Amino acid sequence: MSEDDKWWRRAVVYQVYPRSFRDSDGDGVGDLRGVTEKLLYLRNLGVDVVWLNPIFESPNVDNGYDTSDYRRIQPEFGTLEDFDELIRTAHDLGLKVILDLVVNHTSDRHEWFRRACSEDPGPYRDFYIWRDGVDGGPPNNWRSSFGGSAWEWNPVVGKYYLHLFATGQPDLNWENPEVRAAVHDVMRFWLDRGVDGYRMDVINLISKYPEYASTEAGPDGLGSYYPGCASGPRAHEFLMELRREVLDDYDVLTVGETPRTVPEQAVLYTDPERHELDMIFHFEHMHVDRRGDSKWNICQAEMPELRRVLSRWQTALAERGWNSLYWSNHDQPRPVSRFANDGRYRVESAKMLGTLLHLMQGTPYIYQGEELGMTNAGFLTLDQFDDIDSVNGYRGLVAAGHSESEALSVLHARSRDNARTPMQWDGGENAGFTDGSPWLPVNPNHDEINATAAEQDADSVFNHYRRLIDLRHDCELVTTGRYRLILEEHPEIFAYLREGEEESLLVVCSFSDRTVEFTPPAGVATGASETVISTYGVDRDPTGLTLEPYEAVVFHLS
Ligand code: GLC
Repeated sequence: MSEDDKWWRRAVVYQVYPRSFRDSDGDGVGDLRGVTEKLLYLRNLGVDVVWLNPIFESPNVDNGYDTSDYRRIQPEFGTLEDFDELIRTAHDLGLKVILDLVVNHTSDRHEWFRRACSEDPGPYRDFYIWRDGVDGGPPNNWRSSFGGSAWEWNPVVGKYYLHLFATGQPDLNWENPEVRAAVHDVMRFWLDRGVDGYRMDVINLISKYPEYASTEAGPDGLGSYYPGCASGPRAHEFLMELRREVLDDYDVLTVGETPRTVPEQAVLYTDPERHELDMIFHFEHMHVDRRGDSKWNICQAEMPELRRVLSRWQTALAERGWNSLYWSNHDQPRPVSRFANDGRYRVESAKMLGTLLHLMQGTPYIYQGEELGMTNAGFLTLDQFDDIDSVNGYRGLVAAGHSESEALSVLHARSRDNARTPMQWDGGENAGFTDGSPWLPVNPNHDEINATAAEQDADSVFNHYRRLIDLRHDCELVTTGRYRLILEEHPEIFAYLREGEEESLLVVCSFSDRTVEFTPPAGVATGASETVISTYGVDRDPTGLTLEPYEAVVFHLS
């Protein structure tokens, strides 16, 4: 099979955060039956694959990213029967389902960790990463992702264990072959139950050098763990092993979440000949609006920087490897609030961002509600936030001398809870998400922004996304066309070509809230053109085009 024939190269993935998608039993928390109920909606949108954020048993220190049993469904989400029903219904509708596999770490409530910390650890102590302290303190100065040292003292073991995330998320020791075999078993268990692939959480962190001490310590005396953990010495070897031992027996999609990965490494992870992953999520475009290492040190995103980053990835993975394309997920704010205009031009700019991304090369991911142009949460007080990262981030900002209102405004812009407010199904109470009391506040703008209204409105963001998805399925150039950036220096227009042998697509997107003139550069033959997509719903002419605010147009050139 040629690489162009891989099904996932023509697929669009929709990400469901089950906790916030649809609650079928009124306890205020979304669940699997709720997802099953809404599969028809996803079918109607036209996507091919549904990615479910973690659904395994978890004490929810980090909303499911702390697994306490890899073979049990989180009770608040339902049962194994509900899961089987979801898979059956999805497959009947022609939808594939991929799961989130969180195996860099487990929960501290996982049986393996409980045993590891007991007087009778059996083989389990070596399932985790233990080190002696140095000079009465932790083994090195790594700062955990959620703040504080990445090492926690355990009095029974008499050593520190590593947790790159919360203390309740101890890191697994991938150097131990028994750990890797246990992970392989878990993967097979769900693949044999019918799942169509995995999104692998922080999978580039599984191989580390714990002896590495971060050199760049901040004022808290702690420094980044990335230099000692990202794409560590055996990361590629472990992924090749996963492929050989498990994945090669199934025709599935794998996407690795890989923070701090540069394109050259992405090629190694996703080059089909190396047999590692099908694609990865890089973070470079998610970092254009921060200063330095901290996600809480924020600045305004500038389109030219976004353009530079996205274009670099398009070009770097054009020949070998494959891109995944995303604007948002459960860890990021809403794109329309972050990169465009969530006020007067919300609908226009949501369509523009969608067009810009969906016409690129790679596999697009839509995060729930993005297809409605959902906005940031707009929480007013700290107690409305739930996310451990946001609450710790707020404390860190205040401890560093920021006022409470400054810290709150940073959360407004960047908190992960922006993406986690319940899905807005209708304009009624709790947006049709639940009959109970929602676990996280519903955005009051659901009276205007909701799926029911969007489905009925031919000009909605939803119907625009449907057209984008159809275009990917119908037009070969969207998958295979060569990416070429044009007007590299334009301050407000992001324009590119997807070139084939005889024809091409020209994509023109405005980031301006005023009208702006587009003139095709020399060498772009706009003679015979046809408007394929226009976010203002009218035919356009690429020669001498006046773009409306946040307009996006796609032309077919032949
Ligand atoms: C990933 C997840 C994020 C989680 C973290 C730790 O980045 O997307 O939600 O907190 O890993 O598992």
